[in-house]
Amino acid sequence: MGDASELSAALIDGKILSRSVTDALSSRVRFLAEHGVCPKLAVLLVGDDPASQTYVRSKERLCKKLGLASEVIRLSDDISKGALLAEIARLNADPLTHGILVQLPLPKHLDEREILFSISPDKDVDGFHPANVGLLASGAPRFVPCTPKGIMSMLDSIGCEIEGKRCVVVGRSNIVGKPIAQLLLARSATVTICHSRTRSLADFTREADILVVAVGRPRMITGDMVKPGSVVVDVGVNRVDGKLCGDVDFESASRVASWITPVPGGVGLMTVAMLMENTVESAERSAGIII
Ligand code: GUN
Repeated sequence: MGDASELSAALIDGKILSRSVTDALSSRVRFLAEHGVCPKLAVLLVGDDPASQTYVRSKERLCKKLGLASEVIRLSDDISKGALLAEIARLNADPLTHGILVQLPLPKHLDEREILFSISPDKDVDGFHPANVGLLASGAPRFVPCTPKGIMSMLDSIGCEIEGKRCVVVGRSNIVGKPIAQLLLARSATVTICHSRTRSLADFTREADILVVAVGRPRMITGDMVKPGSVVVDVGVNRVDGKLCGDVDFESASRVASWITPVPGGVGLMTVAMLMENTVESAERSAGIII
């Protein structure tokens, strides 16, 4: 146990912050309602993965709370590619649907890329379609993936300077690692992406003023791998002995960092809030309120 005089990081509280994001959305939803538009999110859930079911329920709940319409389409895990593509084509053509999300992971027999690329880029609130990935990479983002967008909002909320900072991203997924690296780069950070094949990982993480960890390995980043005074963002959600924990060992890392996100109560809440924001944005765009 550390003694009471030991410095400990401040929390970047996803609960408070996601609330302020959703509060700000409420007036935009009201404005749309006055113009006869109700933002609608369609979620396709294939199979019965328990974690995916939990995530989808939380999306449904938040839609309801904010006055967004939602349609959850639950599909059997042996659905054919053709049948799933037909569902997506129906939603692409539906003028009342503004956002389409296919919950990942998909069963093995379905090609994730082929499915995600069939979503209309104009309704791709996850920001995974190559058109949206390309817009982000070229510095003119349209739909920004929800978790990275939420992370940037968390960093801004604590007044964290990004320009010129050394940022290390651990994890190279299309959902988090690559897009957060793009967003940090766009704000003039010096960005390093580490991954499972990186040698001497700690040599990189110890240099990070801002460390973003999204690898899916419980408590992999320990305090000795963290730069004193840094900002640590933990994207991991792992269940160990029935308890949720992140990819960062909170106990040791929070003694070294100056700011840290908790798990639960951190990035995850921001992800859902940003999904709502992207859906509202999509509705505003289709109504001609924004371009
Ligand atoms: N599964 C885990 N994270 C995500 C996400 O951000 N979007 C989708 N569609 N599926 C996920």
